[in-house]
Amino acid sequence: MMKKLILGVLGSGKGSNYRAIQEAIDRGELNAEVRIVLSDVESAGILGFARDRGIRAEFIAPGTLRSRLDPETEAKVVKLLQGAQVDLVVLAGYMRLVKQPLLEAYPRRIINIHPALLPKFPGLESWKQALTAGETTAGCTVHYVDAGMDTGEILAQSEVPILPGDTPESLHARIQIAEHQLYPEVIRRFTVGR
Ligand code: GRF
Repeated sequence: MMKKLILGVLGSGKGSNYRAIQEAIDRGELNAEVRIVLSDVESAGILGFARDRGIRAEFIAPGTLRSRLDPETEAKVVKLLQGAQVDLVVLAGYMRLVKQPLLEAYPRRIINIHPALLPKFPGLESWKQALTAGETTAGCTVHYVDAGMDTGEILAQSEVPILPGDTPESLHARIQIAEHQLYPEVIRRFTVGR
């Protein structure tokens, strides 16, 4: 049996992508283990879900900057990830930019999922952006993380249709179903051929 890929997950929200990854592991589809879950939001569902599963889950007090953690706090995150022997950092609804020192500690080993077909519609509520723009397809993208907002090299995409009568909510729900399928599939690539 090949060595498991150790994952560290960062999220700020409800954690449905994290849940999908955990379930893929449980089904034996992913030779991986989520060792640590970190959140900049103390009440985030993602922390509760990890704790219920007995997985180490910690709140990281985000400090005063809005769009990123301050460098000292990010250094603390690096320490926690390295202490947990994390191989791959998985952003799952993490609502901040990643900068130094985290980028430097995990070159090409931090990935993110974004609810749009990048490079279209980076940033917040991209499904609303797609609806407003009159698109007929939407989807999600898994990409490497760099210092920009949703700008890193694209690893994979999954398309969904935009249907007549779609609301932001119905479209977002359809995109999330695609996300839950795509993210474990892409993580799987990191587990093979190591
Ligand atoms: C997802 O739509 C993801 O694409 C975006 O944030 C959302 C997180 O949802 N980056 P969840 O917390 O995984 O449910």
